[in-house]
Amino acid sequence: MTQKILVIGAAGFVGAPIAKRLLADGFSVRALVRNADKARQMLGDQVELIVGNFTDKTTLEKALAGVDGVNLSVPWQSEAQVARDVTDILAAQGRRNVRVTYISGTTALPENRWYPMIDEKLKAEEALTKSGVAYTIFRPSWFIDALALFVRDGRATVFGKQKQPYYFLAVADFARAVSKSYQTEEAANKTFVINGPKAMLMQDALQQYCDVVYPGVKAATMPTWFGNMLAAMMKSATMKDFVQMMAYFEKSPKVTAPNGAEKILGASSTTLEEWLKTQKKA
Ligand SMILES: NC(=O)c1ccc[n+]([C@@H]2O[C@H](COP(=O)([O-])OP(=O)(O)OC[C@H]3O[C@@H](n4cnc5c(N)ncnc54)[C@H](OP(=O)(O)O)[C@@H]3O)[C@@H](O)[C@H]2O)c1
Repeated sequence: MTQKILVIGAAGFVGAPIAKRLLADGFSVRALVRNADKARQMLGDQVELIVGNFTDKTTLEKALAGVDGVNLSVPWQSEAQVARDVTDILAAQGRRNVRVTYISGTTALPENRWYPMIDEKLKAEEALTKSGVAYTIFRPSWFIDALALFVRDGRATVFGKQKQPYYFLAVADFARAVSKSYQTEEAANKTFVINGPKAMLMQDALQQYCDVVYPGVKAATMPTWFGNMLAAMMKSATMKDFVQMMAYFEKSPKVTAPNGAEKILGASSTTLEEWLKTQKKA
């Protein structure tokens, strides 16, 4: 019988590619979204939509009814609460075999807990591992696709001196790994580090991205204090959060060591060069 997977946040940056990959791999997909029109446009008409808010328990219960798996692709600020609510409902219903997949991060380690996003991610991981409900946790490296976030109004900027290389990873490869995890019991109750094929400095990755998508644009580096000032002048909470995250990464936080995910889930093999061949000039 076809397995049905609920994707919470299925119209998001990571949730949409996961929902599409699950469909392509033959799963039946249910999406919990806030905006039906946006979701239909992004995901097509094969996805079953539940429209509502994940903070509402009745909506969550409705969305969870009859599914075999759940993927949490929600903003990091809500992750621990959603992980607790989902596992509480499943445990109360005695549905401990419904596997919950969750996107943590490559630097989700106790020593980095001082940074609020990592604290939230570790709380979400703990909610899953202590719930008694089946889970698969992913700690992906930086997504190649997130390089777009570094470009604003035609300017490409890396905030902070980013000295640590990261194994940049295509979201499509990550979505494939999430889908694969539902296809093997070996992935149950494990935490996987998901890296791309090659470690790169952010500045170098961004320059390569610009060379294809924004030809002629030079990737600049700016101190985070300057970024904070710009965010305040622009009254942009999104930019403030982004610069704060870059200030965290400027400290070269410890990353989780690779743990053989490719043996169970296959390798994430798309290089930045290959990924860029699929991109158009902006
Ligand atoms: N490793 C990396 O490089 C990287 C990069 C980016 C993200 N991530 C991780 O990926 C995960 C997902 O992040 P994302 O960037 O995909 O987030 P996102 O694009 O903001 O998507 C989140 C989705 O959740 C939905 N949502 C928000 N609040 C909701 C609510 N109250 N009820 C129902 N739906 C709600 C949003 O709906 P709307 O569509 O209505 O807004 C959106 O579709 C996070 O764990 C994040 O840390 C990792």
